[in-house]
Amino acid sequence: MHSHILPEMDDGSESVEMSVKILNTLKEQGVTKICFTPHYYTHNESMEDFLKRRQHCFEILKPHIPEGIEVCLGAEVYVTDIIMNNKSLHPVCYGHSNYILLEFPYQTTFEGQSYDFLMKIINMYNVRPIMAHIERYDAMIRDPGLLEDLENYGIKFQTNANSYFDRATFRRFKKLIKRGLVHYVGSDVHNLERYQPEHYKEAFDLISKKTDPEVVSGICHYSKKVFDAATK
Ligand SMILES: [Fe+2]
Repeated sequence: MHSHILPEMDDGSESVEMSVKILNTLKEQGVTKICFTPHYYTHNESMEDFLKRRQHCFEILKPHIPEGIEVCLGAEVYVTDIIMNNKSLHPVCYGHSNYILLEFPYQTTFEGQSYDFLMKIINMYNVRPIMAHIERYDAMIRDPGLLEDLENYGIKFQTNANSYFDRATFRRFKKLIKRGLVHYVGSDVHNLERYQPEHYKEAFDLISKKTDPEVVSGICHYSKKVFDAATK
C-alpha cells in the first residue's frame, strides 16, 4: 500500500538493482501485490512533471519486476494549498481507483482549517483519502474520536509495518485496532535499511499474535479492495 521502490524517483530506491532486491525481499515474505507510491510534493513539482518522471522510472523497472509480483502505480501526495491548482487528482490515485494516499505536515491537527481543507479535497475531487502513517500525527494517534469522525467521511488509515516493533506505538495501535480504525499496513520501504523490507511479515505475525488473526485478514481484505479497484 505504501512503498518507494521506483528507482531514482524520490528518496527511495537508488537503482534498478536495489529495487529488484527490495521486490524479491518482499516476495520471499509472501507479498504478491505491491503499490508504488513515490512522493509527490505538490509545492515542488507540477503533476504533469511528476507523472512523466514516474512513468519514466516505471518503464526502467518494468522488465525487471520478478515473476509473481503484480504492481500498480500511485503516489504519496503531500498536501499543500497548491494541490487545489489541479483540475483532477485521479492521475495520482492508486491506478484506476479513486483512493489516494495523502500525507500532511506532521504538526497538522485536523481541526479547523486543516479539517475543512481535507473535506474540500474529498468534495471537490471525488477521491477517497487514505491517510499515510497515521502514527506520525500526534493529533491522530492520540485521538480515536478524531479518526472515527474522519472515517465517517470515507477516510481510511494506513500504518507503517516497522512502527509495530515500537512497544508504545503498538499500544496505541491496539486501541485503534479494537475500534476498527487501522485499515492498512504498508512497508513504506525506501531501501534495504530504511523500514527494512525483510521484517514486513514479522509485523503481521506480531499483529496476529498480540491482537487477533482476524485483524490481519481484515487488513488484507481492505488492501485487496484498493488493489483490485486500482488494477481493474
Ligand atoms: Fe512514504
